[in-house]
Amino acid sequence: MKKHIALVPGDGIGPDIVREGVKILSAIAEKFSHDFTTSSYVAGGVALDSEGIPLPEATLDGCKQSDGVLLGAVGGPKWDTLPSHLRPEKALLGLRGGMGLFCNLRPAILYKQLSGACPLKREIIGDGLDIMVVRELTGGIYFGERGRSEDRAYDTMAYTVTEVERIVRKGFEIAQKRSKLLCSVDKANILNSSQLWREVVQRVQSEYPDVEVSHMYVDNAAMQLVRNPRQFDVIVTSNMFGDILSDEASQITGSIGMLPSASLAEDGFGMYEPIHGSAPDIAGKDLANPIATILSVAMMLRYSFSLFEEADAIENAVSSVLDEGYRTADIYTDGMKKVGTSEMGNLIAQAL
Ligand code: IPM
Ligand code: MG
Repeated sequence: MKKHIALVPGDGIGPDIVREGVKILSAIAEKFSHDFTTSSYVAGGVALDSEGIPLPEATLDGCKQSDGVLLGAVGGPKWDTLPSHLRPEKALLGLRGGMGLFCNLRPAILYKQLSGACPLKREIIGDGLDIMVVRELTGGIYFGERGRSEDRAYDTMAYTVTEVERIVRKGFEIAQKRSKLLCSVDKANILNSSQLWREVVQRVQSEYPDVEVSHMYVDNAAMQLVRNPRQFDVIVTSNMFGDILSDEASQITGSIGMLPSASLAEDGFGMYEPIHGSAPDIAGKDLANPIATILSVAMMLRYSFSLFEEADAIENAVSSVLDEGYRTADIYTDGMKKVGTSEMGNLIAQAL
């Protein structure tokens, strides 16, 4: 298979981890005789420094013309004082909105090899956690009308039926392929947009009779995630609630450096990135954990290219390297073998 992948390393540890992702792409290309080519683009703080804007047109165009995008991370203290339209994070919103990536998949999996890293009590996590957060990504308060004057500021959360319906359907489809449990999270006791959201879920539900649906207010969901996370399988929710709950879900797996994500358009085109940030304090020091990015490559192969065997091969390689006791600093515990970013990438490539 021939595919062209746009690389957007971004800031901080972004370049360190994307490099390892590319290593894995090459290993897969060799093993399975694919032809993967790449082009690199700037976005975020590096783009602000070199071109004065967070998302240059050439970057968005290059990404649109590719078959899939692999992104590292954007942002850092250097650009934190800029006004919001000039912040590196704006690049992410521009990429998501500009490419119609409305469906964000954030799996939160507790790897059995890392169960000691989970901050919850053993009786709460039982034999593991595997939650899929399906977050709406191009609507809601992130993209609503906003404004500010000297003494007042506002952001608006608006959703159309169409926007809710397409993400909710994704939630149902994913639930059908997993344990057929879907929890829709909203704040329908307060927000109009959430009442509309809930109505749409209730209407669409009849088309997926095999899926059991529950509705939960977001404050309760935040509590239930630490009280009894095993009640959840697939969570579908709006942009902002999904932002918050996916961080919480990732933390209960204890290993934010391990978790990948996919941001998908209607036609399966996608941008793939680790869910962690740019960690500027460890950038360029060969300390970052590349596994979230490597698992994001696996998601790209699975969701955008339908290369299922290849995606499984990457996930199995990661698992076997963890089985052998190799750990980057963020997931290191006594008795394990500590390795740096590039060695971890090499080990996973070799395991492939
Ligand atoms: C995320 C991040 C972004 C978001 C930021 C960096 C704009 O927190 O991908 O979850 O809020 O969506
Ligand atoms: Mg976030």
